[in-house]
Amino acid sequence: MAIFIDEKNGLFTLHTERSTYQMKVGPFGIFLHLYYGAKAENTDFSYRLQMIDRGFSGNPYQADNDRTISLDSLPLEYPAAGTGDFRESCLAVIQADGSRAADLRYQSHRLFSGKKPELPGLPSVYHDDCQTLEVTLKDTSTQLTVTLCYSVIEKLDVITRSARIVNGNKAAVTLDRALSCCLDFPEHPYDLMTFHGKHAMERIPERTPLRYGTTSVDSVRGASSHQQNPFVILCGRDTSEEQGDCYGVAFVYSGNFLAGAQVDQIGQTRLYMGLNPENFSWQLEPGDTFTVPEAVLCFSDQGLSRLSHKLHRLIREHVCRGEYQLARRPVLINNWEATYFDFDEQKLLTIAKNAAELGIDMLVMDDGWFGSRNGDQSGLGDWTVNEQKLKGGLRSLVERVNALGLSFGIWFEPEMVSEDSDLYRAHPDWALAIPGREPVRSRYQLVLDMSRPEVVEYLYQSMEAVLTSANIQYVKWDMNRHLSDVWSSAVPAGRQGEISHRYVLGLYSLLDRLLKRFPNVLFEGCSGGGGRFDLGMLCYTPQIWCSDNTDAIDRISIQYGTSFCYPASTVGSHVSVCPNHQTGRTTPLSTRGVVAMAGTFGYELDISKMSVEEKEEVRRQVAFFKEHASLIAQGEYDRLTNPLENHRYAAWQFVSRDQRQALVCFVLLQATCNPEPLLLRVRGLEPGRMYAVNGQGNYSGSALMHGGIPVPFLYEDFASLTFEIQAIS
Ligand code: DGJ
Repeated sequence: MAIFIDEKNGLFTLHTERSTYQMKVGPFGIFLHLYYGAKAENTDFSYRLQMIDRGFSGNPYQADNDRTISLDSLPLEYPAAGTGDFRESCLAVIQADGSRAADLRYQSHRLFSGKKPELPGLPSVYHDDCQTLEVTLKDTSTQLTVTLCYSVIEKLDVITRSARIVNGNKAAVTLDRALSCCLDFPEHPYDLMTFHGKHAMERIPERTPLRYGTTSVDSVRGASSHQQNPFVILCGRDTSEEQGDCYGVAFVYSGNFLAGAQVDQIGQTRLYMGLNPENFSWQLEPGDTFTVPEAVLCFSDQGLSRLSHKLHRLIREHVCRGEYQLARRPVLINNWEATYFDFDEQKLLTIAKNAAELGIDMLVMDDGWFGSRNGDQSGLGDWTVNEQKLKGGLRSLVERVNALGLSFGIWFEPEMVSEDSDLYRAHPDWALAIPGREPVRSRYQLVLDMSRPEVVEYLYQSMEAVLTSANIQYVKWDMNRHLSDVWSSAVPAGRQGEISHRYVLGLYSLLDRLLKRFPNVLFEGCSGGGGRFDLGMLCYTPQIWCSDNTDAIDRISIQYGTSFCYPASTVGSHVSVCPNHQTGRTTPLSTRGVVAMAGTFGYELDISKMSVEEKEEVRRQVAFFKEHASLIAQGEYDRLTNPLENHRYAAWQFVSRDQRQALVCFVLLQATCNPEPLLLRVRGLEPGRMYAVNGQGNYSGSALMHGGIPVPFLYEDFASLTFEIQAIS
């Protein structure tokens, strides 16, 4: 049993293997948060509440002369704005009379097994073997209710949270803010880790001590974005990779978000995550329900590595789904950096032929195969094959690629439209634009209004036609600009604040339909690289192109930051040509291979132009990757160095769950003459077990973990090594 309810004292306790989360119905039904942290059984944490009269923190009317009860200082589960809690709220409502206030108090609860019902129209974590608690709160003065949903996944120390807001009034209300969760902590000795970036340099970790006031990150770009990721970690000041408390909060959503931590006037911390209130409002009609997207909470009292292990497992086993969830993904070759728009069927077949000879599994035809798409200024929206480029058509090309022994994948950018396209000429109003205002162009393109069902229907029909026309086994789903001019002719003026969220719902409905129709097709997410890398997309696309930056050295930092939340099995990563197209840097082919193997692995270069030696190296890499694919995808990943601090070398490792096998990867970032000795300490082995390293020696797990592996002197910038560790006892 994971959830304990003490009816008499109004106490709700959620236990996972190593954590405890506790809530309580407080005075006047105020729903309090009492504790979240390391496991503590048989404890009523009410004793932690400090009821003190604080100046300028008002008191609920029912408290009469008791000035110690204040919504402004009590720890709350789902605070609403306008009735005395002046901190960041979860909920802001404009009531039918125009007042901006709600005051939520406990009404009822129910407990059940499993994690149903699913959130309508929204992706969510799935798990049969768990318990769910629903607690319904009601506004003191209206018939608005909020049902908070908590599902407990004991083994992974995960609690998922979402909420249903129901308007039981006879008139509409407007939601101005509807976050997914907040977590109140009575102190503030915390750091907040966030993951910032830009196009081609995503998810760079930043760790800052909290200060009084608010520290927050967000996206108003219509996608979760390259610029900030909807994942944050709150941790103790001393928490490191290997020790200390930390809390990860990940949003199962792919659009605008807000995540932050606020230290209030008396030094308490409130961590929060949810839909970005900016550009958001939702008119809730009488009887209607608004479902708040899910947030995942994960706790570790053993440092950041453990937190990542748990999140990785959650994502692999309870977020990603479908045929490819745990299966080895195809090693693919993508033609983008090989040809850009300049290709025809002969060029693709040449690449495919060379790739097949080296053991590669799939050819992915990237942007440029459809409509009048010969550059990035035209064609988006016209999802019909350009037979001038692909003579003989798609089916013939796919058959010829299949005959070479490769499967076939294809690129789409469904959510976009070029002004120079038949689709735009027929339906200019399908693009997001504000009447009387010229829309912002980005990469010369406009965004389709995914909030409109007819747009989603058109895309479904077009994509279905392509996907049924040939033996296509993979789709790369790209999105190459952010949303501006967010206005839709589908809803009246007063509801325009709903469009950003309706866009995401439209996107999810299209993905959902296509996945149901094509359960055997592997979908890879992409947004100009990793601009929409989040748990929402991972519910549909079990891998996401991690970055448009394929430079091995930059990728080390990008993949390092990505790894805090996301497992290697989700990280799209390819070997590309040198000098690298994004940085101009030249790195050894072997190192490009080692770095790309910390992901789904593939190639993105004209393999037919490689020398015989290089091709041999590719053949070895592909074989090596296939041999280690399950260790890489299912094993536990550890960051052995922080490339933002250690500029001399980078290292990471994978350890099998039975601790019998490990792969340690090392890249020299800067060669130096007469270097200091370097010993690489492995993690996660069994101390008493004996292991061989690269087939040699007889070392105990303790020796490798504490004594380390001596790294031989490497005489070249960016040289790399791998150490295969295999149990011999
Ligand atoms: C951006 C993607 O990230 C690239 O890999 C490539 O597919 C281009 N778009 C194509 O336009």
